[in-house]
Amino acid sequence: MGSNLFSIKDKTVVVTGGLGQIGSSYCQILGERGANIVILDSSEYNLPLEHNTTNLIDNGQAIYIQTDITDKKSLYNALNKIESKFGTPFGLINNAGLDSPPNSSSQSNGPFEEYDEKIWDKVIDVNLKGVFLSCQILGSAMAKNGAGSIINIGSIYGILSPDQRLYEYRKFSGEAFFKPIAYSASKSGIYGLSRYLATYWAKNNVRVNTLTLGGVFNNQDKEFLNEYHKKVPLGRMAKSEEYGGAIIFLISEASSYMTGSNLVMDGGLSAW
Ligand SMILES: NC(=O)c1ccc[n+]([C@@H]2O[C@H](COP(=O)([O-])OP(=O)(O)OC[C@H]3O[C@@H](n4cnc5c(N)ncnc54)[C@H](O)[C@@H]3O)[C@@H](O)[C@H]2O)c1
Repeated sequence: MGSNLFSIKDKTVVVTGGLGQIGSSYCQILGERGANIVILDSSEYNLPLEHNTTNLIDNGQAIYIQTDITDKKSLYNALNKIESKFGTPFGLINNAGLDSPPNSSSQSNGPFEEYDEKIWDKVIDVNLKGVFLSCQILGSAMAKNGAGSIINIGSIYGILSPDQRLYEYRKFSGEAFFKPIAYSASKSGIYGLSRYLATYWAKNNVRVNTLTLGGVFNNQDKEFLNEYHKKVPLGRMAKSEEYGGAIIFLISEASSYMTGSNLVMDGGLSAW
């Protein structure tokens, strides 16, 4: 181990939702440390990204495969392409997800009593079934290969109920917004899924952990920011790059005795 404790050089790491705000920062940080990156995303690769990974694609260190994680065929297609380019992946970061930021439409974020079951299905499909299928198809290949680390991305709203008072300011402009139930329920499910697979694949030398994130700054409404900041002991939202250290830790040998666990990074939000 020694100085290689945090090394991820030449390890192949798959990042679902790797074109998104936080996923692209994982790709950049992993790429800077010499990992091979596989970006899976249902969106098209359109620049600019929050964190530019084009240089990694240009130099052959990363590939982008348009993939829908709710579709098994799409995931098998991705696995074939990954295996022919880099071999069996070592790391899998299940990061793709659907959320309802504070400035999104109030139509799909109304009160619980009227919450649309189609939206419930869509969120559960991506945030929970998508993680299940990604583990079933990509994780199984890792287990067969006898090595790997899976990181499932959770949210503080999977541990704590969202504080709906943060969104009350939307009422002043005549519309009600509620952080919806499907997001919390789907993110809560991630803990059970991670623990199940951690025990199931321990014999295959594949570790499975959850990384729970607090909110990331993304030009949210200032009324929301003011209230959110008051709830966080560190007094601010996260920058997506601030989660990179945990990603390196969880992929590398530095966390070799850690599986079935949950690492919380929330600026202290859940500490009081
Ligand atoms: N942003 C935050 O404040 C925050 C806080 C806690 C947890 N998280 C979690 O972090 C993760 C990333 O969040 P983000 O803010 O970067 O979101 P984002 O919307 O910027 O990125 C999500 C990415 O997932 C992709 N995606 C959506 N459905 C997909 C599908 N079916 N198949 C493949 N890709 C799909 C999208 O195209 C997008 O590129 C999510 O799991 C989210 O729940 C975010």
